[in-house]
Amino acid sequence: MHAEEKPTLYERLGGAWKIAIFIDDFIDRILVDPRLEANPRVKEASQRISKAGFKYLVTEMTCWATGGPQTYTGRSMGDSHKHLMITEAEWGSFMDDFQQTLDKCNVRKPEQRELIALLESSKAAIVVSQG
Ligand code: HEM
Repeated sequence: MHAEEKPTLYERLGGAWKIAIFIDDFIDRILVDPRLEANPRVKEASQRISKAGFKYLVTEMTCWATGGPQTYTGRSMGDSHKHLMITEAEWGSFMDDFQQTLDKCNVRKPEQRELIALLESSKAAIVVSQG
């Protein structure tokens, strides 16, 4: 890294080892959130997929999206969520869970804001229902 270059978000978060810690907490949190389980399609998919595989793919994606050396190998956000018919309210619950994870895992505010902006950039592909 060049001395005058700003470290990437990936570096400021502490790299894959630290990112994996907060994704682990976050996935455990969303998989038991009754506000998300109330959507029967989300509940069915959550029970079908492997928790370890889900954590792996979301960690990989987060590393990639924050400027790490990883390449995301999973499906697109549209392909992996459109059948779930995720609503605006469910999106709000998901973001609330994310905020709780960020605070619990002591992610600093500037990095929190950048992570939230990254998530928001995927919203249009994920939230398909106004209900
Ligand atoms: C309310 C919001 C969300 C809910 C309830 C949700 C739930 C789920 C569920 C249940 C699956 C498994 C779907 C299936 O295989 O049938 C999934 C896949 C996935 N989600 Fe989400 N998700 C949400 C938002 C997001 C966001 C914002 C991201 C990242 C920016 C994300 C990243 C992923 C990834 C990487 C996968 C795996 C893709 C693959 O199968 O290759 N999700 N999500």
